[in-house]
Amino acid sequence: MKILNIVGARPNFIKIAPIIHQMKEGGQFTPLLLHTGQHYNENMNHVFFEQLGIPRPDYNLEVGSASNPKQISKIIDRFEPVLLKEKPDAILVVGDVNSTISCALVAAHLETPIIHVEAGLRSFDRSMPEEVNRLLTDQLAEWLFITESSARQNLLNEGVRADKIHFVGNVMVDSLMKHLAVAGQNSGALGKLGLSKNEYALMTLHRPSNVDRPENLKAILQAIAELAVEIPLVFTIHPRTEKRVDEFNLRHLLKPLRTLAPLPYLDMIHLMANAALVLTDSGGIQEETTILDIPCLTLRENTERPVTIEKGSNTLVGVDTEKILSEARKVLRGEGKKGQTPELWDGRAAERIVEILARSCN
Ligand code: UD1
Repeated sequence: MKILNIVGARPNFIKIAPIIHQMKEGGQFTPLLLHTGQHYNENMNHVFFEQLGIPRPDYNLEVGSASNPKQISKIIDRFEPVLLKEKPDAILVVGDVNSTISCALVAAHLETPIIHVEAGLRSFDRSMPEEVNRLLTDQLAEWLFITESSARQNLLNEGVRADKIHFVGNVMVDSLMKHLAVAGQNSGALGKLGLSKNEYALMTLHRPSNVDRPENLKAILQAIAELAVEIPLVFTIHPRTEKRVDEFNLRHLLKPLRTLAPLPYLDMIHLMANAALVLTDSGGIQEETTILDIPCLTLRENTERPVTIEKGSNTLVGVDTEKILSEARKVLRGEGKKGQTPELWDGRAAERIVEILARSCN
């Protein structure tokens, strides 16, 4: 079975690594890899390939950054000839980024079956570009691999046939479990930054709803600037956020923080695993902190990953300065949320995916 695997943005790399490795192991698959080029910076891209052992892509569409519609149309334009040339048995897309829907749309029109890994997650907020990408990709996919049981109900409600849905666990967790020990031995990030276990907070922020709206970005940065007086606060800044901080004249609010460029995968999971508290608006980090059982405050009004709230260590805090501060202080007083491991988040999701695909092509 020839499968054309698609990646484009940072979280895709973490998800595709275990799948490609598993496909190579089985011998039944010829996996190809296509990178759309949605993310291209060294620290958002190459370093992840290196640390996760992802093979060099067979194709790179080099689309780069643009508005969502422009980026999507560029990917569609450049992906069609590749698909026509390769004629794979299926394409495999992960997550909910622009690369996911763009390639799925081309495949649907060229009658190439689509495998969607991390299907069915819903925030029910269509102002999020990812929600639009998720909804549409799931309508087009033939195999829908889900990470949590809420996804099954969402898909059934949208009319997806039950036999297309497979609950397999979470490939992001596969990568985390595989690399955590190595990160502990090799990263050295704590030492380099002069930090001690449980004595710092870690933050990431990149959602357009938080960083493209000056009032929201200001409210969040005001909260963390205040929090940073109480505990060292490491902020890894996404390029989108960095731009907005300057555009909205908010750089003074970063002064009390330890700001860093986006970190390589091993440093990031090592810092996450040892933090007293994580603040984020990332979907993947809500899941990773759940597995690590580190209290996570999600700076959003909703999450498409409800299991991280119901079972995991995640709490939704929105973007209100006072609410963020009071929840963070609760964690620092030792009253942070403790969680349990969600069902099937055991490091074997890729194995299940490849097994199901192998069975269905026999
Ligand atoms: C994208 C995904 C988002 C995912 C995130 C992870 C979509 C709609 N969004 O958001 O779901 O959570 O990736 O990071 O697909 N930039 C660089 N270098 C890069 C990449 C981006 O400087 O390598 C800058 C560019 O100025 C760009 C901006 O960051 O305009 C935003 O990048 P983009 O890929 O459009 O969206 P993300 O916010 O990264």
